[in-house]
Amino acid sequence: MFLRVEGLKKSYKTMEVTTEVLKGVGMNLDKGEIGVILGPSGSGKSTLVNIIGGIDRSDSGKVSVDGIEVTGLKDNQLTDYRREHIGFIFQFYNLIPNLTVGENIEVVSNISKSPLDTDEVLKAVGMLDKKYRFPRELSGGEQQRVSIARAVVKNPKLLLCDEPTGALDFVTSREILKLLQQINKEFGTTILMITHNTAISGMANRVYKVRSGEIVDEVINKTIIPAERIEW
Ligand SMILES: Nc1ncnc2c1ncn2[C@@H]1O[C@H](COP(=O)(O)OP(=O)(O)O)[C@@H](O)[C@H]1O
Ligand SMILES: [Mg+2]
Repeated sequence: MFLRVEGLKKSYKTMEVTTEVLKGVGMNLDKGEIGVILGPSGSGKSTLVNIIGGIDRSDSGKVSVDGIEVTGLKDNQLTDYRREHIGFIFQFYNLIPNLTVGENIEVVSNISKSPLDTDEVLKAVGMLDKKYRFPRELSGGEQQRVSIARAVVKNPKLLLCDEPTGALDFVTSREILKLLQQINKEFGTTILMITHNTAISGMANRVYKVRSGEIVDEVINKTIIPAERIEW
């Protein structure tokens, strides 16, 4: 297994109250697959994906990614792991406002070991003609395309997407999903995507349903629906 999560637990303590956010989560993903984590708001999806991506830590349990035991890494090793191997895409793009599209991508490629070519990646997301624009001069969908280019330019082992279409309308969402599917094919990138939209699960190889910090269902799809045929 490329991604293996076992018995993952996480609690947050605020004042006197302890909230158990992950109660022993297990999941798997093979190399080159698309996985979807489906669940309502507050069920622990982001916490799970942040631990997999090394931006949060679990209390117990194990995460391994392509043979790297993430849960055993020290802080500086975790930073390297994140920088070298993980691409992140968030709901609200998180682009740097005073840098152009091209510069937003070069910020990442400049610190990557074997980055892809900026223009090649911009072309793949259909944004090469907007390379010299600033984020504020782009629509939401275009900004998300740039954030995908920024995540992909480092040629990550694993692309983690936290509600990537959460702020977009239906037509634009479908285009972004189409693009993620295309990147999965073209670059062979393994993708793990969070959503609360059931329709999106049709494009995944594996679907994990989360309720209150637990996986309540795992579905393995025999046929994958092309993103352009997804409706909601
Ligand atoms: N840093 C934090 N401190 C305290 N509670 C948190 C923190 N992060 C998340 N939580 C709580 O953990 C639960 C799960 O959050 P999250 O993983 O963001 O859920 P989801 O992504 O499914 O909406 C929520 O109840 C949230 O309030
Ligand atoms: Mg979330």
